[in-house]
Amino acid sequence: MPAVLDNPVHPSVREFLSRKIHKLLIGGEWREALSGKIFDTYNPATGDVIAHVAEANQSDVDLAVKSAQKALEGPWSKATPAEREKLLWKLADLVDKNAEELAQLETLNNGKPIRESLKGDLPLASSLMRYFAGWPTKIHGETTPVSVPYAPGARFLHYTVREPLGVVGAIIPWNFPLLMAIERLAPALACGNAFILKPAEQTPLSALRLGELVLEAGFPAGVVNILPGFGPGAGAAMASHPEIDKITFTGSTEVGREIVKASTGNLKRLSLELGGKSPNIVFADADLDAAAKGMFMGIFYNQGQCCSAGSRVFVERSKFDEMVSKLSERAKTVRQGPGLDPKTQMGPLVSEEQKKRVLAYIDSGRKEGAKLLSGGAPGAGKGFFVEPTVFADVKDEMKIAREEIFGPVVCVMPFESADEAVRRANLTRYGLVAGVWTKDVKKAHQMAASIKAGTVWINCYHFVDAAAPWGGYKESGWGREKGPYAIEHYTELKSVWVDLN
Ligand code: NAI
Ligand code: MG
Repeated sequence: MPAVLDNPVHPSVREFLSRKIHKLLIGGEWREALSGKIFDTYNPATGDVIAHVAEANQSDVDLAVKSAQKALEGPWSKATPAEREKLLWKLADLVDKNAEELAQLETLNNGKPIRESLKGDLPLASSLMRYFAGWPTKIHGETTPVSVPYAPGARFLHYTVREPLGVVGAIIPWNFPLLMAIERLAPALACGNAFILKPAEQTPLSALRLGELVLEAGFPAGVVNILPGFGPGAGAAMASHPEIDKITFTGSTEVGREIVKASTGNLKRLSLELGGKSPNIVFADADLDAAAKGMFMGIFYNQGQCCSAGSRVFVERSKFDEMVSKLSERAKTVRQGPGLDPKTQMGPLVSEEQKKRVLAYIDSGRKEGAKLLSGGAPGAGKGFFVEPTVFADVKDEMKIAREEIFGPVVCVMPFESADEAVRRANLTRYGLVAGVWTKDVKKAHQMAASIKAGTVWINCYHFVDAAAPWGGYKESGWGREKGPYAIEHYTELKSVWVDLN
């Protein structure tokens, strides 16, 4: 039975959590795992078990692939683009209709403050769904004027067609569970693929509720399959599956490499959205109040568990002391607590494992001689809390300045010139995002041109939209999600020649 919840929750959330076991969605039906295995899922604010979930493994993945293929051979390939649009739009409406419940589930399972799940994750998720709902009727090929040098005078009609890839598997992490699920599901289905989702083992609940909404929206059986389970089990089975045509993966760079290796059997398509160690650069001529907010939110949003966290803050020397103290003083006032409490500003980390990992980084920062200005300790209580932590006197070579911490820990470092800022910003194996704060337009664009990152935010941070591409340079990944760029990744391009001679 789920533990008693301290804060009131929606009756339907209570009902959802009271189920004895949460099953896998395969072929339009809720089924136990073939092995009969289940695993526990937790409320990170208390450490209590809140639900038991069926654990998918290889044989469940096989079954899901078969039902996905059946859907592709049958009703799903017959659905017109307009029908796919309608279904996606309907699902977006259902997500909105159930937003409060989904947000509470997300907060209970992930820990994030309810304001963030309700005002951030949920509206972004349904807007993504609607953006991609608009695509099916606009995915088209082109006619191409061809001239064949070895067939002088020959005439051809040449055209291209964009077709679905087939079965798309998504392996996603726990930091934005529902948002990531929808970010992958929406373009995959818009392009006519069938979809198998493996949510992270830490946060399966919102994806399972989404599965119920998928059925309510009326998608044909097997178009969407949801398989909670672990990385080495269901995840690895998907990555190496000979009949899964594409994997879209978000998570650690380390597992990204495993996915690449596992994909070589059938050379499946991959898109990878991996780690980051992103620079957030504040020039002395910036609007310093806005920059202070951007520094704070850049690192502490979602408890620092963002691939795009601004975890290396560089401040121009003349304003360094002022900005560092602004950031550390504000960090000291953050109200931590359970995400469901509306007064909470920062929730727990997602798991005991993440808490230990982040505390170990804080320890290493101390040992390597960085100066701890605020935080540095676990929060009170049984939950997986870590205080918002600010380090100064950090050297570029220190572990805390090089590795992705994925928690509320920031390194703040001074710089003397724009050239130095660029050089040090790029001194990383990652290249996901960067922030630049300055009122000088020329400098802002010079920085944007020089930093090797998939996204550069000028005088803002953490803005994303369904239409704007998202992905990384270097070891931050392969490909771009969102926007029209996603459509290319979820389709094959066919070239057709017709002899007109
Ligand atoms: P992870 O990369 O192990 O897990 C992400 C997803 O991959 C989960 O669904 C997991 O079950 C799956 N997975 C794990 N091993 C797999 C395998 N061998 N084959 C197929 N799927 C597999 O990330 P984890 O362990 O949760 O967090 C570790 C670190 O990864 C974090 O501290 C952070 O640095 C980074 N990370 C980055 C994220 C991002 O958004 N870029 C998200 C989550 C974690
Ligand atoms: Mg892992």
